[in-house]
Amino acid sequence: NRDYAVENSDTVLPHNKFLLAPQRLKFKGILGSGAYGIVRLASLQDEFGAIADVAVKMMKDDPTIDDIKNFYREISMMKSAGQHPNIVSLIGYCTLYNKPLLVVEYCSKGDLQTYLRTIWQNIVNVVFECRTHLKSNVACVCNYKKTHTIANRLYDIQRDVTKYIENITSADLLNFARQVATGMEFLSSNRIVHRDLAARNVLVRSDRVVKISDFGLSRDIYQENVYRKKGNGKLPLKWMALEALTHQIYTTYSDVWAFGILLWEIVTLGATPYPDTPTNKILQFLKSGYRMERPPNCSRELYSIMYSCWNIRPQSRPTFTELKQNLDKLLSNYS
Ligand code: ADE
Repeated sequence: NRDYAVENSDTVLPHNKFLLAPQRLKFKGILGSGAYGIVRLASLQDEFGAIADVAVKMMKDDPTIDDIKNFYREISMMKSAGQHPNIVSLIGYCTLYNKPLLVVEYCSKGDLQTYLRTIWQNIVNVVFECRTHLKSNVACVCNYKKTHTIANRLYDIQRDVTKYIENITSADLLNFARQVATGMEFLSSNRIVHRDLAARNVLVRSDRVVKISDFGLSRDIYQENVYRKKGNGKLPLKWMALEALTHQIYTTYSDVWAFGILLWEIVTLGATPYPDTPTNKILQFLKSGYRMERPPNCSRELYSIMYSCWNIRPQSRPTFTELKQNLDKLLSNYS
């Protein structure tokens, strides 16, 4: 593994403006962890002494060759992708105790999946509390004083809601989707196939700007416009297009499919796709022509957008530019 890293550090990690001195990082808490390793919050001091929060991705202790490859690939993909407001910015990289560190911009609201699930959980809690409260008091509703108390209590609960739940509207949710489509339009115009677009790989900033991250699986498709995956690793099956499941073909079209699933994740506030279908039945389900149903609170217009992303013919799916325009049309209903 060491040889591999050293070999790559000459080819993939040249000395340039992204190379950081590790002494400039002061580590704080842990932001997340996964199969690859962990992400930590750190503060980074720049050459003028100013300090900013950053997120530092580090590999686990005994990485496989594939882990190391993906890590270096992620760095080189982020570098080649360039800067865009809806792509997580690369701040730099360095090595510490022989391990590579990837330093990226910090998005204080964390990943979109957890963010949406927290909103959902808070709504569930509030509904539950209102129900229990009403049930236990329903016998007394004829009594004016009691009714007044119930009303006050419900008012308190409502106030809690606005305190604890991010005040998220349907327009905000559409806006998240539009921002992801904009970031993906940029990536695809740079010939980058992400291959793991999902709510868990989108980050949220406190100003509600969302950013695509996790380039560990992404590829530059310069050679043939198609990436065929060799070997095996863990795959995001429920986000994968039919042709990726059957022939390991990854293109911008298969990223569009994943975007459709991401739209579904957004409207359901972070539910797991195909909730009634186990992962090992997905291929059969899709091959039979089935697709996910319209979620209860999803408009027909929005459903038709996500459904078009799951067209069996990759070329018949919308482009990210078209997706952005379609979402803009829906958003214009709110302004
Ligand atoms: N979790 C993983 N990456 C992160 C980032 N850049 N900011 C905040 N939380 C994260």
